[in-house]
Amino acid sequence: MASATVDDLVMLELDANNSVSVSRHGATVTSWRHKGEEILFLSSKAVFDNVKAIRGGVPICFPQFGPWDLGPQHGFARTARWSVYHPPTSLDEGTITAILELNDQQTDNAWGYKFTLLYSITLTHTTLELKVGVENNSPKPFDFTILLHPYFSVSNVEAISVTGFENSHYFDKNKDGAKFVQKENEVKITSATDKIFPNVIGPHALLDPNKNRVVVIHKENFPDTVVWNPWTEGAKKMSDFGDDEFAHMVCVEPGFVSNRVCLEPNQEFNASMTLSVEMK
Ligand code: BG6
Repeated sequence: MASATVDDLVMLELDANNSVSVSRHGATVTSWRHKGEEILFLSSKAVFDNVKAIRGGVPICFPQFGPWDLGPQHGFARTARWSVYHPPTSLDEGTITAILELNDQQTDNAWGYKFTLLYSITLTHTTLELKVGVENNSPKPFDFTILLHPYFSVSNVEAISVTGFENSHYFDKNKDGAKFVQKENEVKITSATDKIFPNVIGPHALLDPNKNRVVVIHKENFPDTVVWNPWTEGAKKMSDFGDDEFAHMVCVEPGFVSNRVCLEPNQEFNASMTLSVEMK
């Protein structure tokens, strides 16, 4: 078992085939290798200039999901430089954890509040747990939205399905936010998809008939799930995303976005996403 923090990258390594890389730029998990296979999608055009958000892996959106008046789309956390609060450490056999930190002094703080974010990343031989804590260090209350934005690598997006949505409803961002009912358990992707499902408990299973594994997405205190694929037209608009790459990725994003989280001074918010891989 080995681990390292080399300037920009925090590496959690259980063995040669099971590892996670996290960039201090945005605390973006850029790779999860499980039994030698990459689970996450990272664009071949992703930019690593420590300015732009990294296109792929697992970015984190805070204190805003989507556009806002006080800063860039999806907030500043995904483009800020995080510090290493706790380097990768193995407390139990087969488990390795690192914790990254971001506070108001590490951002341009146009938002105007004092806060601390702690992001704990734990790798085992079957799971990757991403746990986020937000603390209000301001003398006044604040509110925010928050979301983890995993990009999953898939064989062919039209062949996959994502379960856990039976009899739910969603807001379709590609149809001016109109509300629809989803009767089926499975979401299929056959065109540009940008759907916000409020209050779906999960777990979600990502089924890919061409792979010998199922990725299961468990979430705690993230009531909402966003499903996104830019398809051809969206891909062309992104300079850091290949025109054909939409066919090999899907984002299934746990968040607290349809309502805002409100924190009083000294209060904390905690939520997590645990990804597990089940072999077929
Ligand atoms: C998704 C949003 O979560 O992120 C989409 O629902 C957005 O609307 C997508 O296009 C990517 O956002 P960005 O800022 O990384 O290009």
